[in-house]
This record gives sequence, C-alpha cells and structure tokens, in this order.
Amino acid sequence: MLNDCSDLDGSRTLTGRSAVVTGANSGIGLAVTEQLVKQGAAVIMACRNIERAETARDEIATEETIDRIVIRRCDLADLDVIESFADWVDTEYDALDLLCNNAGIMAIPFSRTADGFEQQFGVNHLGHFAITGRLLDLLCEADGKPRIVTQSSKMHERTSSIDFDRLDDPSRYSRWQSYAMSKLANVLFARELDRRLDVAGESVRSFACEPGFVATNLQLRGPQMDGSRLKETCWRVASRLFGQSPDAGARPMVRAATDRELPRGVYLRPGGFLGMQGDPVADEPSQTAQDDALANALWEYSVEQTGVSYGRLG
Ligand SMILES: NC(=O)c1ccc[n+]([C@@H]2O[C@H](COP(=O)([O-])OP(=O)(O)OC[C@H]3O[C@@H](n4cnc5c(N)ncnc54)[C@H](OP(=O)(O)O)[C@@H]3O)[C@@H](O)[C@H]2O)c1
Repeated sequence: MLNDCSDLDGSRTLTGRSAVVTGANSGIGLAVTEQLVKQGAAVIMACRNIERAETARDEIATEETIDRIVIRRCDLADLDVIESFADWVDTEYDALDLLCNNAGIMAIPFSRTADGFEQQFGVNHLGHFAITGRLLDLLCEADGKPRIVTQSSKMHERTSSIDFDRLDDPSRYSRWQSYAMSKLANVLFARELDRRLDVAGESVRSFACEPGFVATNLQLRGPQMDGSRLKETCWRVASRLFGQSPDAGARPMVRAATDRELPRGVYLRPGGFLGMQGDPVADEPSQTAQDDALANALWEYSVEQTGVSYGRLG
C-alpha cells in the first residue's frame, strides 16, 4: 500500500550540516550531492577516482557552493581505504549529520574486491557496512536527527534469500542474482541498523530507498566490461525511453536524508508508473527484506567478513 509523502514535509534547511555521499561523482550520487549542497549542507564526495570526482564537482559547483564541496578518495572495494577515509573524516570533523550510502555497480562479470569478496556484494553491501560502522560514532555526535540512507533497488524484490555460502564462489556466480542479493542486503542492513539504533537510544535514524529507473552509467558498465556494443546500445535506448533523470532519481534519497518528520522504518521509492519514476512515496520493501532473522544473520556475516564491529550497537 502506497502512502503519499506530501504530508511528511519537515524542515529542509541544511545550513551547518555535514554529509558524506558515496559514489558522488556520477549519476544519482552527483545529483544527491548537488541537492544537499543547494540546501546548505557541506558535502564530502567519497569517490574512488579523484579526477572523475573533480570533473563532476566542477559540473555542479557555483561560486557560492564550491567551498562546501570536499573530495576525498574512498574505494568501497578496499577495507583499508575505507578505514583511512573514515579516520580522515574523524580527524577533520566533530560530527557528521548525513551519510548517503549510494555507490553501486550492477551485473558485471565476476571479480573480487581487494579483500576477496565478490565485487557486487563487496561494494554494494559490505563496503557500505564497513563505512557506516566506521563513521557511526561521528554520526552519533551530531545534534538533531542524523541520518543514514542506503540506496537499494527494485531488484531487491527479485530474490527471496541471501545464500551466504555461494556469495564468493565464481562457479555459482549469477551476475543478476548477485546484484539482487546485494540490493536486498542494502534494505536488510538499513532496517536492522535502525532497529539497533532505536534499542540503543541513539538519535540517528537509518532508512533505505530506491531511485526508480534512472538514466546513468550503471546499466552500461556490465556491457562495456563484456565488450558488447549491442547490449550497451540497448541499455542506452531503454534508458532514454523509460529512465528518469538523475535529479529525479535522487529525490527518494534526499527526501529520506532531509525530511525530519519521516516515520521510522518507511521505505522511499518513486510512486509513478511501475515504481520506475515519479515523486517519492513511503512504502514497504519486500517481505524478505522485512525478515528480522535474515537481517540479523546478515549483520553477523558482515561483522565477520569486514572485521568492523558496531561497538555501541552490538
Ligand atoms: N540507475 C538506476 O536505474 C538505478 C536503479 C536502482 C538502483 N540504483 C542504485 O543507485 C546507486 C547509484 O547508481 P547510479 O545509477 O547513479 O550509477 P552510476 O552513475 O554508475 O554511479 C555509481 C557510482 O558508484 C561509484 N562506485 C562504483 N564502484 C565503487 C567503488 N568500489 N568505490 C566507490 N565508489 C564506487 C561509481 O564510481 P565510478 O564513476 O568511479 O565508477 C559512481 O560514482 C547504486 O547503488 C545503484 O544500485 C540505480
């Protein structure tokens, strides 16, 4: 059942607030960065490639905003880099108001992260689990209602489990199944994190959202890595016909990050045609994404794999 979000408006002023956006140099992450900066926030663009990040920043920065946009290298496929990034944020900032876990890759051929995890699950979920755990103390230091928002996808509905035993096994790899499991993990993680924050009495809140079908580089990367011009062209055409703009795709994440009246536990996604486009609405994720036992198993698996424990949350 969809609920119109129009009754959920709260304060949108972000002056004096600081934010980290992962994958901020492209597509939805760049649009999220621009929208947060326009509302007054200071944003750290956490990107794996500094050159691409600088080019992207120059696209959105104005004379008034450029001093509030900082670029810092963060490769979510490398736990050591994530730790260094978080240490730097900890040194430079007294508190952090927003963490937007946005970066992602989709349906690429099998490869591993620096730590040996299958790339999609490693970047989309484990990298974000690690960065969130490492930044949590700073988020807990912020006044008001600090937020963690994790970007999922409608694809999270396409799997009814996370098969922990097969995640890193190349012989059992399915690129779409792996993507779906990583996006299911994004929702399970966001919800479990929110539950634990609530139990611990922290003011930080955690939400998951999805952007709809958005014309970005996401769909092109797999075909490009395969060297398939045909598949790449098909995706370009489909994006042009059905995709919404990155600006529109950024709205569920920005809404989840900034709407101070948002009820705990809602899942934001576009409310238009087939959930692919339109204004954000508050919804529920799939039944599997609401499975508390699976969420807890994922949490334990993620702590074990990343070595990042959430001290104050257990
Ligand atoms: N586009 C859609 O239709 C759609 C639908 C549902 C969900 N989503 C989700 O939306 C999010 C953003 O995707 P997008 O559509 O904006 O795609 P995009 O334009 O390809 O942006 C993805 C971003 O993630 C970054 N990234 C990839 N691997 C990384 C790593 N190891 N470390 C740090 N950053 C990394 C990319 O950096 P580089 O530029 O350096 O590669 C890029 O900045 C993803 O989580 C995706 O799953 C998108």
